[in-house]
Amino acid sequence: MSTGIDTEAATAIPQRLLLGSGPSPVPPRVLAALAQPTIGHMDPAFAAVMGETIALLREAFQTENLATLPISGTGSAGMEALVANFVDPGDRIVCGVNGLFGVRIADELQRAGADVVQVRADWGRAIATEQLLEAAAGGRTDAIFVVHGETSTGVAQPLGGLADWCREHDALLLLDCVTSLGGHPLRLDEDGVDAAFSGTQKCLNCPPGLAPFTAGERALDKLRRRDRPGRSWYFDLSLVLDYWSPGPTSGRTYHHTAPINMVYALREALRIAVGEEWLATSWERHRRAHHALRDALAVFGCERLAPDGEQLHPLLAVTPPAGVDEAAVRRGLLVDHGIEISGGLGPLTGRLWRIGVMGAGAKREPQEQLVAALATLLHADPSEPLAALHEGWRA
Ligand SMILES: Cc1ncc(COP(=O)(O)O)c(C=O)c1O
Repeated sequence: MSTGIDTEAATAIPQRLLLGSGPSPVPPRVLAALAQPTIGHMDPAFAAVMGETIALLREAFQTENLATLPISGTGSAGMEALVANFVDPGDRIVCGVNGLFGVRIADELQRAGADVVQVRADWGRAIATEQLLEAAAGGRTDAIFVVHGETSTGVAQPLGGLADWCREHDALLLLDCVTSLGGHPLRLDEDGVDAAFSGTQKCLNCPPGLAPFTAGERALDKLRRRDRPGRSWYFDLSLVLDYWSPGPTSGRTYHHTAPINMVYALREALRIAVGEEWLATSWERHRRAHHALRDALAVFGCERLAPDGEQLHPLLAVTPPAGVDEAAVRRGLLVDHGIEISGGLGPLTGRLWRIGVMGAGAKREPQEQLVAALATLLHADPSEPLAALHEGWRA
């Protein structure tokens, strides 16, 4: 009996150069790790993989937090886990909203029954610290929650000053660092962040499917003070940690079956991203790659949305050249050149190109391919933008 499915077409996955907002290019070593034999989630050999993954995640986050682990699920699962564990109904939470991912966090907080105080800035601008602190001072505040790297606009949120206020006022500082982790300077402990979540498919160059997560003692204290279980069983950290980080005397306890092969992949991705390249070197490479590509695209007439000093290195959001059908160019890149870039979201739909500068994508060669392909589609001479790109890499 025919299923009506063209199995050849369904199984043939095209080669793509992923230079969009994520997923980013996955190195063959990470794909090979994914294809290792599946073993049991209680197997001591898997415990060794978990241990190394946790150690590498601590390095990526620049934290000593014991509660550091990959949550099962994509970045959004990390957001759910963070809210389920550290936000109680009725908590007053100051939430920065300057793009789609801030909007989503505000929505999630609302659903959790929090009293959400949104502090907005234009999409494409960072939120002034004073505005966040003024809102926080407007009542008894339980947490400030911001997006470090706003992927919808390519803006990095400064964290300076937030942690001090939170410590003085017994509030938590909560962070979405999905796009910044591994690609933009972030020192979790030094920045005083109490809990944060990320994703695997951005600067870590791993397929999507896990959410790197970390929480410090101040956040865990809040969890311990709860007089009844939180609303989520799946994301209950007190249960999940009994599996990921059991105490010295208690044995590892099954909670849910870990996504074994994804953990192999994340460990390999982290070995590459933070084990083999020093994190500060990687941040500097992302910075150079961002500026080199920005200079090259400026030759086509593209302007970066984020002003100087507010840019997120792993995500370059630019206006397409005037008069160009931006969607048609993106289609041409994908279909004719096998290169993916992303378009604008929400109010910026049709008005932006969002280009990933993430991990293996933050290198000269993939950027040369993109610039040359864009020149073809825009009927422009590639020599000047390529020269600008090379100059940027030399700077
Ligand atoms: C800043 C930010 N937060 C959260 C998410 C949600 O992550 P995911 O799509 O992996 O669930 C994304 C995804 O792009 C993101 O860029």
